[in-house]
Amino acid sequence: MKKTTLLLLLLFSFNLFAQKFDGLAKTPPLGWNSWNTFATNINEQLVKDIADKFVELGLKEAGYEYIVLDDGWMAKERDGNGNLIADPEKFPSGMKALAEYIHSKGLKFGLYNCAGSKTCAGYPGSRGFEYQDALAYASWDVDYLKYDWCNTGKINAESAYITMRDALYNAKRPVVFSICEWGDNEPWKWAKNIGHLWRVTGDIINCWDCEVGHGSWSSSGIWKIINMRKDIRKVAGPGHWNDFDMMEVGNGMTDAEDRSHFAMWSMLASPLIMGNDLRTATKETIKTLTNKEVIAVNQDKLGIQGFRFTNENNIEIWLKPLENDAWAMTFINMTDSPVNINHDWKKHNISDDLNGKYVDMKNTNFKIRDLYNHKNLGDTSKNLQATIGTHDVLMVRLEKI
Ligand code: GLA
Repeated sequence: MKKTTLLLLLLFSFNLFAQKFDGLAKTPPLGWNSWNTFATNINEQLVKDIADKFVELGLKEAGYEYIVLDDGWMAKERDGNGNLIADPEKFPSGMKALAEYIHSKGLKFGLYNCAGSKTCAGYPGSRGFEYQDALAYASWDVDYLKYDWCNTGKINAESAYITMRDALYNAKRPVVFSICEWGDNEPWKWAKNIGHLWRVTGDIINCWDCEVGHGSWSSSGIWKIINMRKDIRKVAGPGHWNDFDMMEVGNGMTDAEDRSHFAMWSMLASPLIMGNDLRTATKETIKTLTNKEVIAVNQDKLGIQGFRFTNENNIEIWLKPLENDAWAMTFINMTDSPVNINHDWKKHNISDDLNGKYVDMKNTNFKIRDLYNHKNLGDTSKNLQATIGTHDVLMVRLEKI
């Protein structure tokens, strides 16, 4: 054997060419995750019902694809050979059968595990079993892995996530790799070639701007999350996203707040992972979640994360550059009463310094499309006048005329 061939063989066998699966999550992933509503109370029937609802409620048609089982799907112990097994009571038919059901609907299947010795809810973690677990996921046809960070002691986050990435690559089934270490080790600085998305904060909770303590950690409402991480936009892009956490749309905020939440996750190019009970969701919730014009902003091919443009009298304006010199612009009423806006386009030149985009609004005319009311609102030659309810949004798309 030639020396070079031998060297290549050695490199392959040590996995030195391992990488994350390319070509996945070129736009932010869309899906559903069990945690926000069900915690560890999950089971086979629930997941099948959710898959059915994806189709029935038009979620699949709107682009949602992944159904991800979070913590609590496993038996409390590995089997005698160290293999992970599905909880036999919650999932009597096993994970392969469940994946088959989900795939039969044209959807994709995701699972959760953790880089530590145990998951956050105390189930077997992947530490020391990464390659074995990755082979199990591949044998069950898993398409997405959320990988958490509890019980990790002093291990280095970057190397732990590289190990799991390499294990997945070694198992040869393309998997979206979702890093979940809550932003503790600033994954936006090192995870671009490791995962397809990474959580940027601790857990979300269903409130506008609150923080709820749980002893050693706390959960944050949507504006706490946004404000914590709005400044790391430059690292997001096709195949590598800042993950602002699973959504709380339909989980108890007002419909207006849900619209703002959904608009903001779209502006931020965050993965849109629903976290509500789709079996009991109201019409209004589904209307928000299936709004294709808003989803199109999230899925824009440029993959640029939006940014806060101005805040005048507690009306925030956010901008997101889109393909073909279009822009998404979102006005959010942060106050506790309805507000009339009268936006003078000529006084607010649009610019995104990071991406070298600048529009002289005195010499440019855009037509304005209202993305929640599905209406054309004229063009930018005249002031934009509208009333925005408490914590509600006016989200528009600007297209050059
Ligand atoms: C952590 C994660 C959550 C969820 C739970 C499961 O808190 O951040 O999203 O996965 O663990 O135990």
